[in-house]
Amino acid sequence: MKTLSRSVLITIAIALTMSAALAQKQVTPEERAYKFRTSLFQTFAWKLGQMAGSKGSNNEAAFIKHATDLAQLSSLIEEGFQIENSLPEGSKAKPEIWQDYEKFQARAQDLGDAAMGFTESGAMANFDPREFGSKSCGGCHRDFKIKD
Ligand code: HEC
Repeated sequence: MKTLSRSVLITIAIALTMSAALAQKQVTPEERAYKFRTSLFQTFAWKLGQMAGSKGSNNEAAFIKHATDLAQLSSLIEEGFQIENSLPEGSKAKPEIWQDYEKFQARAQDLGDAAMGFTESGAMANFDPREFGSKSCGGCHRDFKIKD
C-alpha cells in the first residue's frame, strides 16, 4: 500500500511537470512579440518619467542619459511588430500598423529624432513632458493604438 501511494504520487508529480511544460509551450510567437513590445513601451513611460524628474531636479547629465536611452530604445519598436497581424488577446495594437507600415515606421523615427534632440546640451530647458508625450508618443498612439 505504501509503495502504491508513492508511485501514485510520483505519477501525479510527473503529470504536473508535463502539463506545466506544455502550458509554457503554448505561448505563441505572437504572444511573445506582444510581451516584448509592451515591456518596451512601459520602459518608454519610465524613461519619460525619468527625464521629467531629472529636469525637475535640474540634473542635466541624468536628463541627457535618459534621453539617450529613450532614443536608442525607440529603435527597437519595429522588432515588436515583425509578425504581421500579431494581435493576441489583450493587445491594443491596431491592424493599421501592417496596412500602413511606412507611416508606422515614420512615427517610430519621429520619437527617436525627438528624444535625440534632447541629448543636446541646453535642450533640457525646452523639455515639456506633456508636450513630448502628446506629440512623440501620442502621435503614434492616435493612429495605431486602440484607446484605453
Ligand atoms: C511608433 C508607434 C508608437 C510610439 C512612437 C509609441 N508607442 Fe506606445 N504603443 C504603441 C502601440 C501600437 C501600442 C499597443 C501595443 C499592443 O498592445 O500590442 C502601445 C502601447 C503603449 C503602452 C501600453 C503598454 C502595455 O502595458 O499594454 C504604453 C504605456 C505606451 N505605449 C507608452 C508610450 C510612450 C511613453 C511613448 C513615448 C515615449 C510611446 N508609447 C511611443 C505604439 C507606439
